[in-house]
Amino acid sequence: MVKGKVISLKPEFIAVLKKLQELNRTVEARELCEITQMEYEKLMSGAIFALQQEGLASFTEEPTTILQLTDEGMDYKKNGLPEKKLYKLFTANGRRELSITDLEKEAQSALGLDKKLFFVALSNMKRKKWVVSSKATGTEMILIYDENPVKQDDEKFLEAFDSNGSLKLSDLPKDLHDVEDQMYKRKLFSRNKSTLRIISLTSQGKSIKLSTIVEIKDEIVRITPEALKTGEWKTQINQLKKYNVSADAPRINAGKLHPMTIIINEIREIFHSMGFTEIRGPIVESAFYNFDALYQPQDHPAREMHDTFYIKSPAKADLPEKAIVEAIKNTHENGGTSGSTGWKYEWKEDIARKMLLRTHTTATTLRQLSAVAKDKDVKFPLKVFCIDRVFRNEKVDRTHLAEFQQIEGIVIGENVTLGDLIGQLVEFYKRMGFKKVVTRPGFFPYTEPSMEIAVYSEVLGRWLEMGGSGIFRPEVTESWGIKNPIRVLAWGMGLERLAMMKLNRPDIRDLYQSPISWLREVPY
Ligand code: PHE
Repeated sequence: MVKGKVISLKPEFIAVLKKLQELNRTVEARELCEITQMEYEKLMSGAIFALQQEGLASFTEEPTTILQLTDEGMDYKKNGLPEKKLYKLFTANGRRELSITDLEKEAQSALGLDKKLFFVALSNMKRKKWVVSSKATGTEMILIYDENPVKQDDEKFLEAFDSNGSLKLSDLPKDLHDVEDQMYKRKLFSRNKSTLRIISLTSQGKSIKLSTIVEIKDEIVRITPEALKTGEWKTQINQLKKYNVSADAPRINAGKLHPMTIIINEIREIFHSMGFTEIRGPIVESAFYNFDALYQPQDHPAREMHDTFYIKSPAKADLPEKAIVEAIKNTHENGGTSGSTGWKYEWKEDIARKMLLRTHTTATTLRQLSAVAKDKDVKFPLKVFCIDRVFRNEKVDRTHLAEFQQIEGIVIGENVTLGDLIGQLVEFYKRMGFKKVVTRPGFFPYTEPSMEIAVYSEVLGRWLEMGGSGIFRPEVTESWGIKNPIRVLAWGMGLERLAMMKLNRPDIRDLYQSPISWLREVPY
């Protein structure tokens, strides 16, 4: 507040200031509402806001839990706990004993306690040792045990609530916290989290003389051309509504691309800039392309139901032309023309015809080999990539999904080498922002040599496995007529791992469940 500046406020806000000066203490907003008879909204965004602007008042926010009695709780607060009511009835006119059946009848007619409530009240009376029961005379009798029962914690607890049935948890004495829990289980109140706004005057607000404040009669929002012409503006200028130019503007949550879409587009850009073309392939695939063409033996464990989702309908896949199928059969059985000895078992067409949900996008890049085999004018090096969904029967948890995505790529070229493959991978991850990339020996049935790829996460401070790669074995390429010195470099990497690191989400499910608070905060 500038020294000597005139302070002007609406009369009703001056009244609030007056009340605060009289109170001479901090006050919670709701309480001030009651004192000033002002609505909450008007008090906070009108009066307190204006006083704050003038440097006269401020408030702090305090998260709190408010306990609110239910109807039942309120009834017990007003009329006593059922056991208390029953005790009063029982001891009326100095009575000291009564049969349980008579007491039940009386409780029903005088207190309206049904059988169930009666027994609840009775057992509480016994538990609190106000009465005991005895069968000594043959009928079950209730006998007085405590003539002057002291107030117990549950009663003290109910008394702590105000007449509206609410209580700030922090106002509850420590020794009543155990009973709070018991009473909550009895559903006598609800617990509500809310924010208290504690209002106080600044030193200037405390000392300012109210008579020095200019009263704003009618607030003027803008000065009109007429007022300028007539000179009326000269008096209006003191009535101008004040604007807070440093206040935060309301937050606008505009529509935007999903973070996964942004990352996928970024990956696309990188591959395009490295000279790759994007390909897509079927999600519903044949075992032939998913496994057999990749030289995975038909009894390979990954083919089992626990990993692969097989499809009932369509039940059988079409296979490529006979010569190719024959070549692949021979490769499995005896190595065919690849120079290998094969897996030495009888290859069955039926198994290759099974339909499934693609377990890796290698099935899709593999289909590219058949395109190359058919295209006489193909130019090398041929570089394609694919970012798409794959499926595995995995238990979903914070690091696994049953449906996820892979970033797959191949380079088909003359005399391409492992060094070229490493170069492509390192380049890709560098462009994605990972400075440290390593490849280490790995194993896949379809590549030789095979490598695993790992990148270093600065955030986690450790190396993370990203996927597999290698040079397709002759057992894979020969059937399609692709022969040395033409070789195929191949890789398949996890998209979600990369996204989790880039987006800093430790739970993989977030990427697709998309918590709205996260989507709002991620940049465009
Ligand atoms: N298909 C492998 C996987 O899903 C990755 C891979 C692709 C490995 C290409 C080598 C070559 O893990």
